[in-house]
Amino acid sequence: MTIRPLILLPDPLLRQVSKPVERVDDNLRKFADDMVETMYDAPGIGLAAIQVGEPLRMLVLDVAEKDEPKNPQVFINPEILARSDERNLHEEGCLSIPDYYAEVERPAEVTVKYIGLDGKEHVVEANGILATCLQHEIDHLNGVLFIDYLSKLKRDIVVRKFKKLAKDRPPPARMAG
Ligand code: NI
Repeated sequence: MTIRPLILLPDPLLRQVSKPVERVDDNLRKFADDMVETMYDAPGIGLAAIQVGEPLRMLVLDVAEKDEPKNPQVFINPEILARSDERNLHEEGCLSIPDYYAEVERPAEVTVKYIGLDGKEHVVEANGILATCLQHEIDHLNGVLFIDYLSKLKRDIVVRKFKKLAKDRPPPARMAG
């Protein structure tokens, strides 16, 4: 398994709409392992493929409590089929926007259809942290970030801060050949 570098705000890749996964094969399973490893290393509870630079409609998450056994889950081509009218306020953060947290209101429950690593279609009715996490990660597949739900003023402050950080950051090492 390989820990992959995370794409950070304001990288334009984060605004790209990801493409459906066409085939669940060994390559994809290996990539899913890398994503899970990268998520645990960060550490985070969810990660979309685009956050490691792959514009694929795929996400991993693990919303198990600290005292519970690890429970990594992989969602391929996820699609929200239904959203509850009831809404929930949750503090969210994002591995692509490190050390920034804000409360976001979203539907409290969602029904999500997805393909599993078994290549089969599944449907999950999610609530609580799983519902929030799934919606946050599915947003990534559509180029949407949780800061998009904040006021323009708050969002501008965050974006400006990360633009400045990116300028101060040395460019990533590139391998030639
Ligand atoms: Ni995120």
